[in-house]
Amino acid sequence: MSITVKNNIFSIETANTLYQMKVDSFGVLNHVWYGEKTGCEMAFCQNYPDVGFSGNVYDAGNQRAYSHDTMSLEYSSLGTGDYRVPAIEITDERGVSSLDLRFHSYEITPGLFSVKGLPSAYADAADCKTLSIRLKDKFSEVYVTLNYGVIFDRDMIVRNACVLNESNGEIVINKAASLFVNLGTDDYECLHFGGKYAFERSAMKESITDGIKVFESTRGYSSHQENPSIILGRKGCTEDVGYCVGAAFVYSGSFKTEVEKDHMGQTKVVMGLNPEQFSWNLKKGESFETPEVLLSCSTSGLAKLTKNFHKTIRENITRGKFNLSSRPVLINNWEATYFTFDEEKIEKIARQAAELGIDMMVLDDGWFGKRDSDLSGLGDWFVNEEKLHGGLAKLIEKINAMGMKFGLWMEPEMVSEDSDLYRAHPEWVIKIPGRDPVRSRYQLVLDFSNPEVVDYLYERIADILSTNHIEYVKWDCNRSISDWYTPTLPANRMKEMPHRYMLGLYSLLQRINDNFPDVMIEGCSGGGGRFDAGMLQYCPQIWCSDNTDAHDRTFIQYGTNFIYPVSAVGSHVSAVPNHQTGRTTSLNTRGVVAMCGSFGYELDLNKISEEEKQVVIKQVARYKDKQPLIYGGDYYRLNDPYESGMAAWEYAATDGTSALIQGVIYRAEVTSLKKRIFPKGLVEDRCYRVTKRMATSPEDIAPESVTDEQSYTGKALMTGGILLDNYKGDDVAFELEIKLK
Ligand code: DGJ
Repeated sequence: MSITVKNNIFSIETANTLYQMKVDSFGVLNHVWYGEKTGCEMAFCQNYPDVGFSGNVYDAGNQRAYSHDTMSLEYSSLGTGDYRVPAIEITDERGVSSLDLRFHSYEITPGLFSVKGLPSAYADAADCKTLSIRLKDKFSEVYVTLNYGVIFDRDMIVRNACVLNESNGEIVINKAASLFVNLGTDDYECLHFGGKYAFERSAMKESITDGIKVFESTRGYSSHQENPSIILGRKGCTEDVGYCVGAAFVYSGSFKTEVEKDHMGQTKVVMGLNPEQFSWNLKKGESFETPEVLLSCSTSGLAKLTKNFHKTIRENITRGKFNLSSRPVLINNWEATYFTFDEEKIEKIARQAAELGIDMMVLDDGWFGKRDSDLSGLGDWFVNEEKLHGGLAKLIEKINAMGMKFGLWMEPEMVSEDSDLYRAHPEWVIKIPGRDPVRSRYQLVLDFSNPEVVDYLYERIADILSTNHIEYVKWDCNRSISDWYTPTLPANRMKEMPHRYMLGLYSLLQRINDNFPDVMIEGCSGGGGRFDAGMLQYCPQIWCSDNTDAHDRTFIQYGTNFIYPVSAVGSHVSAVPNHQTGRTTSLNTRGVVAMCGSFGYELDLNKISEEEKQVVIKQVARYKDKQPLIYGGDYYRLNDPYESGMAAWEYAATDGTSALIQGVIYRAEVTSLKKRIFPKGLVEDRCYRVTKRMATSPEDIAPESVTDEQSYTGKALMTGGILLDNYKGDDVAFELEIKLK
């Protein structure tokens, strides 16, 4: 595992992959290889056809086969005859957008590079190195440095680009991709994670055909509609075999992912800030660093790629004392009360939850300002004593006395027009002078590109956190951003605002993390609207979706877990009929599904039956017992819920000594063979016993655990499978526990 430079070839060798680039005789950096380790220089695979209308750089003379328009460039620009999707677009003072990037120098440094003011991957210097390749425009003093931070044993390359202007005039960056990677001429399918509010990150598979596919957000946040992550697999790639490459943007604002299959049949992936909402001016001596992208490759199927991302996000992105530790099982009052509560109601919910073994009470929206509906109050982060007599401190004291921790909901980036904050500072909202702003959920967005606004919010939040014993903050964000205008920037820099907004948000989160290390932040954006590796740096978990229906959640969680680890997924048992879908699923099913994440409840536990309370006690105890395996084990998808009529997933101990499989069968069938589940990650020649917990019908909310007396080798189970019992009804859950004999 190393980074080497020989014969003008840069080779990045991780545990299982090789990434190669070559500086050619014109000083142009070519992409050569990303895939299997071959022990060889792979430049012999390069192909230079002579293609009409594909121009040649001037210094190539009459070498017509040397064209940037057909080559596999490592980071392409406008103006050298490449008409495909570029990595970078810069305009100089004359309005000229041409950049001819040639190799300048390189450096290999211990440790991972990081990006100032932005979330960045981190790792022990012993486990990683950074290769920085500096390119320079042939005709000006504009430099582009490509950084490759390599976490060797994770097969992970952290990428970004840094643009430095050393020329005398000002330049404007219109586009600077964080990731630009060529994947050759194979046939690809891509998996992207699209969706909508309350149905985020659905795994959507598409063939890559000629042309450009764009997956993006222009909403000012990463969005419910498209996630800033993507996987491309060669045709035939499955969970267990085949070649695939994945990328995840370490950023939470607008983004653009472009997948281009060019006129020569070559596929490339480009990911970065969305140019529609970005530009950045650089004077002489100034530089701009793009956010990071996590890039990984697996030559043994999707499950391995998922493992690379889960490990990296959990151990190299998410920070803080709650990162690898156990997390509290929580009760949240949102679906129990919405805005209608007082301290008695909250105490009652908390007391019942405490009796059932739950660790933390989270007080959701409505505790502050004039907030009896979503029409007013946002921005007034002062307790509403008409609702909570005696204030927060007294309520928290009582909840702590029940043996429970206390968490609080906030939505710091937002403001209602009917609020004291808006009346005092109308200039702090994002709004275009002379125009009415777009309202969403009847609220406006505060201008986080203005440091004065961010400072005010820090002081307000810090005051709440230092005067109350709060151990968790749910950080919500309930609308997309529009009306981009800030009085703090001149007209020619207004397109810097969306990125400056993110810099403001990250600086606030970082200050809170630094100064309140004992407070865990859970991210949220109307559910999973800002579920990305950027937010995960500051929040070890994110509320996955406002859709709490267990059936739907199996699909949402299936898509989410391709890239994001189970510990990052906020997941709750809610009431039935479900408030979003009206569907009724059993308490057993709701519990099994919510356990695939950071587990909690979101209903009034006083309203369930005594029998159900006993089930809740068992679920909480079971989750606490299994949490180390659920978070720390290897996660496997055992089937595709879109195709197989059921969802099944597994957590296997990394040493193969035990595994837990959970799943939901969507519909009962009258005449069929028993369903069979094939576990993964076991040791082939060791012997295991299997315990089944399978509901026989939706009414069966506390299925018995039945241990099979016979023992089976790992190989027998992984190839022969485990038969599920007979059942009736829809959305029936099961659990299979596999332990060494
Ligand atoms: C959206 C969140 O996703 C919900 O869980 C809840 O906190 C509401 N906002 C409160 O307004």
